[in-house]
Amino acid sequence: MPTALITGGHAGIGLECAKQLASRSRYNLVLAGRSMEQINATAQQLRTAYDIRISTLELDTSSLSSVRDAATKFRAMLDTGEVASFEALLCNAGGYFGGPLSYSKDGYETTFATNCLGHFLLIELLTERMGDNGRIVFTASGTHDPDTADGKMVGIVAEPDAIALANDGRDGKKPLSAGKRYSTSKLCTILYAYELHRRLRRAGSSIASIAFDPGAVPQTGLLRTMPKPVQWLAKTRFMKWITKRVGVTQGSISFSGASLAKVAADPAYRNASGRYFQSNNGALSDTRSSKLSYDEQRALKLWNDSKTLVRLQPNEESVQLR
Ligand SMILES: NC(=O)c1ccc[n+]([C@@H]2O[C@H](COP(=O)([O-])OP(=O)(O)OC[C@H]3O[C@@H](n4cnc5c(N)ncnc54)[C@H](OP(=O)(O)O)[C@@H]3O)[C@@H](O)[C@H]2O)c1
Repeated sequence: MPTALITGGHAGIGLECAKQLASRSRYNLVLAGRSMEQINATAQQLRTAYDIRISTLELDTSSLSSVRDAATKFRAMLDTGEVASFEALLCNAGGYFGGPLSYSKDGYETTFATNCLGHFLLIELLTERMGDNGRIVFTASGTHDPDTADGKMVGIVAEPDAIALANDGRDGKKPLSAGKRYSTSKLCTILYAYELHRRLRRAGSSIASIAFDPGAVPQTGLLRTMPKPVQWLAKTRFMKWITKRVGVTQGSISFSGASLAKVAADPAYRNASGRYFQSNNGALSDTRSSKLSYDEQRALKLWNDSKTLVRLQPNEESVQLR
């Protein structure tokens, strides 16, 4: 049976996706995240329900040392046969960080560190261990597109400049709003997905790199740092009605989770590399992401700057530019 490693697979959209991968696609799973008590409990429930192999991996995407440790452990799982046939990597963990500006252990702004740099490093460390038909799926967001209601509502993206984003608010400069930090992190996610696709093709690899937008799903824990009344309001039917009327992409935990699983494992998406899929109103479609997300120069700069920020060593680089 193939194996999928999913970050943030114990909650929200990731958990629904994990259930689908286990039940429909019959994938073994590696659940990776920082909340081990919850992850182990979820792993036990999934094992019992679906009779598949599930391993767990401690991984805090905001910490470079945690990502390196997790990658070492995962490679050991492959070497010992605890995990076989690594076919899917789902970079799904992420957060919206309201409240005061904060920085990761490595000194980088928390949104960019959590949503972008951790997954970037994980991909560099693990892609070489993936099978030829492997897929890497990035959970992005419609908020990355300033020409859509999603982008306008959450915060118009800033320049996807990794060094500036990692150092947001430093040196007395005015920081971006939490909304802009989030939407820009999702633009960077899509730029990574497309740049990875180009690199893989140039390297002669058939691994797919795919971007996915689950649509707005207020029932998850994503808004947990927002004030309680805002969290409550976001989950009401009234808010759903309004956001639908103004054209915000509509997801649901079940449909968005199932869509993520489809993109990662369904044979119909085998040739979907370099594309962007969106779940909206119960339909999963192949759609265009924002104009900026197709900018190859910006993507290349983001990639190279991210390499510098994660202090990537030459022997760690999976996705060589040839
Ligand atoms: N919900 C939406 O409306 C929406 C829309 C578009 C895109 N998305 C994206 O969908 C993905 C899943 O979010 P969700 O809506 O399902 O929210 P969620 O219920 O809060 O799930 C987020 C997952 O990410 C994990 N995570 C957060 N920070 C982490 C870190 N530093 N290290 C490891 N894991 C971490 C969380 O684990 P903990 O339990 O440890 O926090 C949780 O498992 C995210 O990338 C989000 O940006 C969501």
